[in-house]
Amino acid sequence: MNSNVHIFEHPLIKHKISMLRDKNTGTNEFRRLIEEIAMLMGYEALRDLPLMDVEIETPIETCMAPMIAGRKLAIVPILRAGLGMVGGLLALTPTAKVGHIGMYRDEETHEPQEYYCKLPNPIEERTIIVTDPMLATGGSAVDAINQIKAHGGRNIKFMAIIAAPEGLKKLSEAHPDVQIYVGQLDRCLNENAYICPGLGDAGDRIFGTK
Ligand code: PRP
Ligand code: URA
Repeated sequence: MNSNVHIFEHPLIKHKISMLRDKNTGTNEFRRLIEEIAMLMGYEALRDLPLMDVEIETPIETCMAPMIAGRKLAIVPILRAGLGMVGGLLALTPTAKVGHIGMYRDEETHEPQEYYCKLPNPIEERTIIVTDPMLATGGSAVDAINQIKAHGGRNIKFMAIIAAPEGLKKLSEAHPDVQIYVGQLDRCLNENAYICPGLGDAGDRIFGTK
């Protein structure tokens, strides 16, 4: 596995992903779990945020204490399902800007079709976290990151809750500079390019559509 790929082993993340997979988990709980998992994964994915010492006056004395330095963050969900992860990351980093990339998979070819792109401007100096719960063939993630790079984005991380080996390979080969965070690596894709065992259609389960 490439060194830019991080797969989580934490029991809390494993437990919550198992609850997501359950077809009896309803929309309300599904949304809450997606947010919680995104927050837990974000805690790890942001461990390299730069710090700077600032002067703080405690009730006892003045000291120098570490706080997050200037590097700005942008969260970029891939619509629709990536939206479900934004709240969990904003709980950690409330001042982050949020961009959006709209993609849907063609039902026949499974190729991604882009329909929207709006990113914080300027994007160049920001650390960018792209979110999508599902990394299946990898087509949507690769295209979304191509688009972000075309707008000048450089320091990019990608977070997926469940990945198929096929998509993880495609993404890490297409964008070896991108740090990839995956909650759980599943077995394979089926003939409809759905992840097995997966959790079904993430967008439909988050938004209650079908
Ligand atoms: C899902 C998912 C990813 C994409 C993954 O979105 O949220 O964006 O499929 O598949 P890939 O790795 O094979 O590209 P979908 O196209 O169903 O759109 P939606 O989120 O609007 O439902
Ligand atoms: N998109 C999903 O929502 N689920 C999958 O298993 C594959 C793509």
